[in-house]
Amino acid sequence: MNITIVGTGYVGLISGVCLAAKGHHVCCVDTNSSTVQRLNSGHPTIYERGLPELLTEVHSSGRFRATTELEEALGSSEIVLIAVGTPSSNGEIDLDQVRTAARQIGSYIKASQRHISIVVKSTVVPGTTDTVVKEEIEKASGKQHGDFGLGMNPEFLREGNAIEDFMYPDRIVFGHEDKNTLHRLETMYAPWQTEKLHVNSRTAELIKYSNNALLAVQISAINEIANLAAALGGIDIMDVARGVHLDKRWSPIVSDRRITPPILTYLVPGCGFGGSCFPKDVQAIRTQGMRLGLPMEMLNAVLAVNESQPQQVINIIEKDTGSLAGRTALVLGLAFKPDTDDVRESASLKIIASLLAKGSHVLAHDPIATENFKRAMGPSASQVEFLKSWRERVRDADIIILATQWPEYAEINSTSIEGKTIFDARRMLTPDSVACARYLSIGRRMA
Ligand SMILES: NC(=O)c1ccc[n+]([C@@H]2O[C@H](COP(=O)([O-])OP(=O)(O)OC[C@H]3O[C@@H](n4cnc5c(N)ncnc54)[C@H](O)[C@@H]3O)[C@@H](O)[C@H]2O)c1
Repeated sequence: MNITIVGTGYVGLISGVCLAAKGHHVCCVDTNSSTVQRLNSGHPTIYERGLPELLTEVHSSGRFRATTELEEALGSSEIVLIAVGTPSSNGEIDLDQVRTAARQIGSYIKASQRHISIVVKSTVVPGTTDTVVKEEIEKASGKQHGDFGLGMNPEFLREGNAIEDFMYPDRIVFGHEDKNTLHRLETMYAPWQTEKLHVNSRTAELIKYSNNALLAVQISAINEIANLAAALGGIDIMDVARGVHLDKRWSPIVSDRRITPPILTYLVPGCGFGGSCFPKDVQAIRTQGMRLGLPMEMLNAVLAVNESQPQQVINIIEKDTGSLAGRTALVLGLAFKPDTDDVRESASLKIIASLLAKGSHVLAHDPIATENFKRAMGPSASQVEFLKSWRERVRDADIIILATQWPEYAEINSTSIEGKTIFDARRMLTPDSVACARYLSIGRRMA
């Protein structure tokens, strides 16, 4: 099948490479010519495990290419996926990129006799595909839905695990507004054996938001309880969490064996959810609900807890060890989670901004996300000392904050940490393992 993907960021690129690996011919379109050039020379534009190898394979097979020219790509495609960004603007979804992509495809359809299906893969609020996207295409093409197909196929991949998630999905959602589009989605995903849901496009859109919103609810709920545990004192929230996780409705016992499902990783306290999806998606669906006259109390609370959670790190350190002014803090981890170089909405952005505002000297390290982090920080990045390697600088720090769960940071034990304060924001260590240091964390205030 010939497939065009408009927008070649995380989702567009991973989808394109994986669809090509399954035998389709894929052309990825992006307005960024350096992205296109890099991909056409076989080099990935993002960090993702397994991507360099897979890109080399599909690039040399001739089944994957990239271009800046949408019309040229569409010339031979039966289906076009829109995978452009849908950022948040003042808590509301910004559909500018989606509208532009829809108009550009509409202009192509105007001059073409071929029937193609346009399928939205970007995360868009319910009702976007069958109103906004449809209307933009109709206006630009002068044709009606029916002359072209329309659908919505949400993406559930997680950065850091993106290729595996795309290749072995837990479900595929075929949101469709017509039979042609459903048929094309079925053909496109024929090589995948998993549960395939057939729904309309607004249901598909709400499935994606509900999925993220419910996971965000869990994270904020455990964080709120963690803050309560710290306020009470004498409790370690990890002991509480373990006690809860053992409920067989969370971890069932099957054939006398306890199953530990991955959902439990969303029930561990930390400094809040970040990344390119959760914060903006929860905001977008909350705002949509409020526009419809609903109070959206639950999601408002989820966001409020999350907003203040990185500040817990600073509050606890100050409460326990005094003012941060003039002290040196080493922040380990800048990506919003391990195995990615994505720093969008990373808690480290807020933690470092707070440390600087308090007058601390900040040392910072990440194995792969430093350059993205500097760009995201803007001019204030010049106030931070970014390190290429962290081990030999531990001795210079008064406080070490483990902010991203990169496995190498668990080796902090093998450096000289005696007498230092370690703030383990990700619960990577056990308090006993760093007995020579002052161990602090969210949800834990021992006497
Ligand atoms: N990143 C994730 O983990 C993830 C997971 C699931 C869903 N999503 C959703 O997928 C969508 C894309 O996310 P992303 O992280 O890949 O975004 P991104 O910002 O990394 O990439 C978007 C790309 O689209 C390109 N673009 C914008 N307008 C264009 C146009 N008119 N023509 C061609 N290219 C254009 C940009 O240059 C950019 O490269 C979003 O809606 C996001 O919410 C993301």
